[in-house]
This record gives sequence, C-alpha cells and structure tokens, in this order.
Amino acid sequence: MIIVAIDGPAGAGKSTIAKALAGKLNLRYLDTGAMYRAVTFAALTRKIDLRDEPRVADIAKNSVMLIEDNAISIDGVDATVAIRGPEVTRSVSLVATNSLVRTELRNRQRLWASEHDGGVVEGRDIGSVVFPDATLKVYLTASPIVRAQRRVAQSGGDVNQIAAEIAERDQRDSSRSDSPLTKTDDSVTIDTSNRPIDDVVMQLQHLVEKKSSGKGTQA
Ligand code: DC
Repeated sequence: MIIVAIDGPAGAGKSTIAKALAGKLNLRYLDTGAMYRAVTFAALTRKIDLRDEPRVADIAKNSVMLIEDNAISIDGVDATVAIRGPEVTRSVSLVATNSLVRTELRNRQRLWASEHDGGVVEGRDIGSVVFPDATLKVYLTASPIVRAQRRVAQSGGDVNQIAAEIAERDQRDSSRSDSPLTKTDDSVTIDTSNRPIDDVVMQLQHLVEKKSSGKGTQA
C-alpha cells in the first residue's frame, strides 16, 4: 500500500501538489485539514462552544463526513465553500488542539487509507503521527510572503493582514502539545517559493516510484 504523507504550513502548496501527485500516481487524495474544518463548521453552525472538547469531539466521532476531491459534506450539509470562509479559518486551529477530536479524525484517516488502498494524504501530522511508516514523507514549505501572496490570489484580502493571520495559525499549529506541525527526520523538505508546481510534482513522483520499487535510500 503506497502512502505519501505531505505536511507543511498554510500556503506551502500542499493541496495543489498533493492533488497533482495523486493524479500522476493514480492514487486517491485526502485533505485532512478539510476534516478539521468540517468539524469546526458543524460546531459553529450548531452553536457549540469550541472549548467544550467532548461536545466538539462528539461531532468528529459521530457525524457522517463525505469527502470527495473537490467537495465535503457533514451530516448531509454541503460545507465545501463554508469551510474556507473566514469564520472557520479563524477557529479551526482551536479545534485542532482538541486531542479527542484528533483521535477521532486520525482513526478516520487511517480507515480511509485502508479502504482506498493507500493515497496521498496532506496535513500537519501525517508523516509524524498518522502514517509514521508512509512510503514517502514530504515537508513542503515556502517563504511567509509567498505563502501570504498565494492565499490572497486564491481568496483575496490584504496581504499584510493575511500574512499576520497565517503567522498566528502557524504558531498555534506548531506549538500545540498534541501532534504539532513538525518536520520528521526522514522527510524530504522542499521549498516551493520559487519552483514551478510541475517540477515539484515530477520530483516527488520519481521519489515515490523509487521507494515503492524498493530502490529507495534514506531521504
Ligand atoms: O491545511 P488547512 O489550512 O486546511 O488546515 C486547517 C487547520 O487544521 C490548520 O489550522 C491545521 C489543522 N490541521 C491539523 O492540525 N492537522 C492536520 N492533519 C491537518 C490540519
């Protein structure tokens, strides 16, 4: 079973690269950030206090989450657009500190991989915690200004404000006690600031092919 784990901070290019790589390798793609966002969306919609950890975890455990490449719904409500909105984006890193939620979503992610016979999975703790034995672990990064510019190109807004928001979220994601964003020793680090997407995808495709045919060396 081939698992490619792609981790890194917001705006590093994870989604674009993970989707394209999955296409090249004929694997399915899973955006685990969208799962944290969907739980946040459902909690906000139901007016649940996000600090009420068991109640928020109950959503992660019991809701029906349908995740497709370009759409996500939770308990029958299409959340595709709302999970990218400012309210969810502001609140999601708080939900991501909830260990009960993390346990539930981690289980779902592992189940997803076994049901789909592997895949390209992106997030923050994929190589470190969810799939420590992944075929290939990738840590994507980019300079703060490039990451902010990408977000502005995607969803608009003021670049300085977005840069500040990204910095705040990075700080939360990297400093939480349960499975923080970290770079594992066995991951390949790629700075995407000045690299064309296709070039990065091709590099990763070669690495996966090498590893899965048993010719891989320690990255
Ligand atoms: O990748 P993203 O911006 O959609 O992620 C949303 C939030 O979820 C982000 O604050 C980090 C968190 N997250 C996480 O803690 N673990 C993951 N595996 C994926 C996302």
